[in-house]
Amino acid sequence: MNREINIYVFSGTGNTLLVANKISETFNLNGFNSTVLKMESVEPEDIDLSRSVGIGFTTAFWNTYPFVRSWIQNLPDGNGTETFLFTTMGDSSCGMIAHIAKILEKKNYKIVGAKGFIMPNNFLLVLKDKKNKERIEKTLATAQEYAKGIINSNGYIKKTNFFSSVAFCFSSFVTTKLWNTKLAKRIMKFKTDKNKCNKCGLCATLCPTENIEIKDIPQFKDKCIFCLRCVSYCPQQAMSNKILLKTYRGSTAGEMKWKK
Ligand SMILES: Cc1cc2nc3c(=O)[nH]c(=O)nc-3n(C[C@H](O)[C@H](O)[C@H](O)COP(=O)(O)O)c2cc1C
Repeated sequence: MNREINIYVFSGTGNTLLVANKISETFNLNGFNSTVLKMESVEPEDIDLSRSVGIGFTTAFWNTYPFVRSWIQNLPDGNGTETFLFTTMGDSSCGMIAHIAKILEKKNYKIVGAKGFIMPNNFLLVLKDKKNKERIEKTLATAQEYAKGIINSNGYIKKTNFFSSVAFCFSSFVTTKLWNTKLAKRIMKFKTDKNKCNKCGLCATLCPTENIEIKDIPQFKDKCIFCLRCVSYCPQQAMSNKILLKTYRGSTAGEMKWKK
């Protein structure tokens, strides 16, 4: 591995950021120079191929957000750059990371690791804080081992299989086509409670797609990817929709604003 590493991360509610930071910390403790960068702040064509590359992102509907997939699809030819991947999920990604690894291999990236990590669910099945803490602790230890494996040139690489191939095709269709239907958007659309909102603007600052404009209260445009960042970090708990019952935060709002 090149001793200089950039890790590009998309994290909706902070879980993937926690794993990225643990992996980065492990590299740095072992004499590497690793930096965690925000995927949404770097154009794919601007990634630094003179350094090793890490790419981490949230699992969404057995896949990942179309924004993440297109960021990956738009990366330049990798020229053999050593690259590792990771995703975080509440339960299962149906082997999605192995398919993203294949996409990158076709683009001439040398995959040295590809793994999914179970973290607390941030959507629908949000567990109690104690259970979430236990899960995070266990997973961060696994993330550390994963990084050590990469350092020792035996990084874990998830393989594709028939089941995961079917799941990936199906979930790619769902996340690009069905997700954009009017019905899906209506079900997922957030509303702001005027009486709770104090117009602090944190939702707009944190939104990765600049989908929120603060007028009288936050107004949502049409670019929501449903990462749940706005609703999860709202200090007034002023946002809701038809299906979200409980919110979750893996990192603090300050940590989510990290700039690099
Ligand atoms: C829209 C949406 C879809 C999700 N789909 C899945 C899924 O298919 N499988 C799964 O195990 N977890 C799923 N999750 C849970 C997240 O993948 C999991 O909590 C993840 O660690 C969140 O990472 P983040 O905080 O970095 O965004 C989903 C979450 C959201 C918001």
